[in-house]
Amino acid sequence: MIAEDTAILEVPEAANVAPALPPGLPASEYPSGELWECSDQDELLFAQRKRFLAEVGFCLITAEVIDALAKLSAGKKVLEAGSGSGWLAARLGERGINILAADWTDYRTADRSSKRGYPVREVFRLDHHGNAVDLLPGDYDTVLLVWPNYETQFAHNVACAMRSGQTLIYEGESEGGCTADQAFFQYLRISFKPRLSEMAELNTNHRTFPGVHDKWWIGTKR
Ligand SMILES: C[S@@+](CC[C@H](N)C(=O)[O-])C[C@H]1O[C@@H](n2cnc3c(N)ncnc32)[C@H](O)[C@@H]1O
Repeated sequence: MIAEDTAILEVPEAANVAPALPPGLPASEYPSGELWECSDQDELLFAQRKRFLAEVGFCLITAEVIDALAKLSAGKKVLEAGSGSGWLAARLGERGINILAADWTDYRTADRSSKRGYPVREVFRLDHHGNAVDLLPGDYDTVLLVWPNYETQFAHNVACAMRSGQTLIYEGESEGGCTADQAFFQYLRISFKPRLSEMAELNTNHRTFPGVHDKWWIGTKR
């Protein structure tokens, strides 16, 4: 697998005893990325992130971000491609959003013997167990793509399979970071029109773990 992932395949003992960091709290309850990066508690924060990865997923999702995503998705049909534990899809579903959570890994039955794959322990929602790209373009208004695999074609394939007028909500690092691949970012530049004000609204109350620089990006396919 991939550079970022090799560090997170296993859940070390320290992560199991690290205090849980609950998702979905107001942004003010989480330290900002910059504060975390200056922290002298690196080991604890690293262990907390490992625990979060196993129990929730890759993105630290604040209450304000859930509100903003629910507002953006109201009355729309949403596909979450690569939904992982399905924590976010479950929260949006509770808010009445018509969302389909798709992942080709079912973490309830995933074979852990090879130590490959992600250390997700619980599945909150999984509506389609299979290749999310095969569901596109479909009749979805919006595709939610959170932390797509690094240096694989997944994100690029999702973006290519979308049709004109569909909205992509991407969460991950920028080009050169540890999510998606270069072809994805090149394709975004050419084939999508960015929606700057909605992006800004999502990112204002977004929080990140120390050492990662993920953020939200929204665009409509041309
Ligand atoms: C890095 S994980 C992120 C999971 C989740 N979005 C999160 O933020 O925690 C990427 C996920 O995409 C899934 N995935 C990769 N390619 C896929 C495909 N073609 N169809 C469906 N799921 C896919 C993987 O199984 C994995 O669960």
